Amino acid sequence: MMEAVANTMNMTLRRLPPWAVYPLGALPALWIVWLTLTGGIGVDPVAGIEQRLGYDAMYFLIGGLAISPLRRLTGINLIRYRRQIGLVAFAYVVLHMLSWFTLDMGLWWRQALGDLYKRPYLLFGISALVLLVPLAVTSNNASVRRLGPRWRRLHWLVYPAVLLGVVHYLWQFKVIPQSGWFWFGLTLALLGLRLWWGARRRMTAWRPRSKA
Ligand code: HEM
Repeated sequence: MMEAVANTMNMTLRRLPPWAVYPLGALPALWIVWLTLTGGIGVDPVAGIEQRLGYDAMYFLIGGLAISPLRRLTGINLIRYRRQIGLVAFAYVVLHMLSWFTLDMGLWWRQALGDLYKRPYLLFGISALVLLVPLAVTSNNASVRRLGPRWRRLHWLVYPAVLLGVVHYLWQFKVIPQSGWFWFGLTLALLGLRLWWGARRRMTAWRPRSKA
């Protein structure tokens, strides 16, 4: 049953070129623009924009992490969209950070530094962004070729980056809501699966051959 669903989905997805992820990925940002222009963003538009961009960043980041497990567990194959999804996620993290620095801090470095001191969880968000920069920079074919096996190792940074981003998000609550636990649990589960599969692959590769 699952195999049939996966096959149908994969056949349908074959018609969607990877570049289509970019216009699709821009839709949440356009929605934020629409809400801002029509007054639907909330009583505090700056916070509304900032928070929505943060959520979109988190959804795309976690979505990107889920691609491999989704294929292994269900057969649904989104691997060829992974790079584009990762870049869209990165764009949202950058826009989220910029919304804070421009709209919230008014481009004032002093105020921004003061805010970082006052709300240390912002440093977790910034650390996540810093870890994502080398991944975005090396997401092109030339870098994959040039770095060889080191590329894969470098892209492991996505796991601590997402974890830092999610901790940054959770830290803002006095009482963490159910949705917060859900995103945290999902991130840990995706991380756990990756570690488990990685360890199993290494164990199989290193198992001493029996002398037959
Ligand atoms: C992977 C990186 C990041 C993720 C996943 C992320 C996610 C989020 C989410 C989901 C929220 C909304 C929380 C809520 O109010 O319900 C948020 C808020 C916020 N984030 Fe991030 N963020 C990231 C990086 C950053 C960076 C680099 C900055 C820059 C300093 C930043 C600054 C903020 C600020 C100022 C808020 C609003 C806090 C408030 O409402 O007072 N974030 N973030």
